Amino acid sequence: MQKVLNKQIVLEKRPVGKIADGDMRFCEQAVEDIPDGAVLIQNQYVSIDPTHRIWMSSMRQYMDPIELGAVIRALGVGKVIGSKDSSLKAGDIVTGELGWQTHSVRNAKELFPVKMVPEPLSSLLSVYGLTGVTAYFGLLDIGEPKAGETVLVSGAAGAVGSVVGQIAKIKGCKVVGVCGSDEKCDWLVNEFGFDAAIQYKRQNIPEALKESCPEGIDVYFENVGGAILEHSLMQMNQFSRLVLCGLISNYNLTSAPEGVKNFAQILMQRIKVQGFIASDYLSRWPEAIAELSSWVQQGKIKYKEDIVEGLSQIPAAVNKLFDGTNSGKLMAKVN
Ligand SMILES: NC(=O)c1ccc[n+]([C@@H]2O[C@H](COP(=O)([O-])OP(=O)(O)OC[C@H]3O[C@@H](n4cnc5c(N)ncnc54)[C@H](OP(=O)(O)O)[C@@H]3O)[C@@H](O)[C@H]2O)c1
Repeated sequence: MQKVLNKQIVLEKRPVGKIADGDMRFCEQAVEDIPDGAVLIQNQYVSIDPTHRIWMSSMRQYMDPIELGAVIRALGVGKVIGSKDSSLKAGDIVTGELGWQTHSVRNAKELFPVKMVPEPLSSLLSVYGLTGVTAYFGLLDIGEPKAGETVLVSGAAGAVGSVVGQIAKIKGCKVVGVCGSDEKCDWLVNEFGFDAAIQYKRQNIPEALKESCPEGIDVYFENVGGAILEHSLMQMNQFSRLVLCGLISNYNLTSAPEGVKNFAQILMQRIKVQGFIASDYLSRWPEAIAELSSWVQQGKIKYKEDIVEGLSQIPAAVNKLFDGTNSGKLMAKVN
């Protein structure tokens, strides 16, 4: 076997507040062997997600936290360059948990071979990956939007939020997005076809919600939490649905948030609230990807990607998610 030097990023210590440089460490390891049933992958793109901040913490969460000293867990897309499993051969494209590293050795059973490789390859981590699928099942399965209803999306210009809004438009809803810059508001309305956008850093949120959702909110797709959630609860209709996808405004907090103001509206308006994790739908991902692909081909769904070059850029890039400077699905090209 040709010797491969694997460059990796490992978790050095658990972040306090924003992720800092010293929380991660670069290292190198030679790949000596591929065990039976496994393959060696040259990673192409690895995902950088808000959930990295959760995984790096020791909070009670939906998976085990990343262990100190371990390679940072991450979804990725890569090319098989060595195989000791009959189901995969060199040249095959696979997705799966590949980690923040240039190469991965994985059991073939843990991987998802890609039969129809899309163009660009990176879309396997964006619209045809975690974020597209999250938007699809969260909105359609949990939000159950009906034509004519009003759908509000927070984090609306991001990877998940922008796809949520466009699917809601396909389903005949009125769609309002909340985001953090005037440029993103412009994308929402003029590129992604939202009916209205609210710039939460500049506008008075309660007033803007009343103005843009005069008939109330029927589905609220929540990516952010905090003040946006608290104000939105006051505008939600009876028997509306709150899809709890993410709470990014909480991820860097150094103490527990004090609770949600206007929580009583869940009772008063009989709001259905459900959290979910996209992996709950793993067996149904192909269904979502088939429909997303048809919408992309018909020009009904557009998506943005923010790709940084090289493993070395990841520690600096991850905080773009928390200061809002990412333009679309954030990932790194590592080979
Ligand atoms: N449940 C699941 O299975 C699942 C799967 C994937 C993602 N998620 C969640 O979905 C959400 C979006 O993830 P993504 O990958 O699509 O990221 P993204 O939206 O592309 O990027 C994150 C965005 O969040 C906004 N943001 C950051 N801090 C904020 C704050 N304090 N207040 C308001 N907005 C803030 C920023 O946009 P602005 O410029 O608008 O502030 C930033 O660009 C996250 O909460 C993530 O955890 C959940």
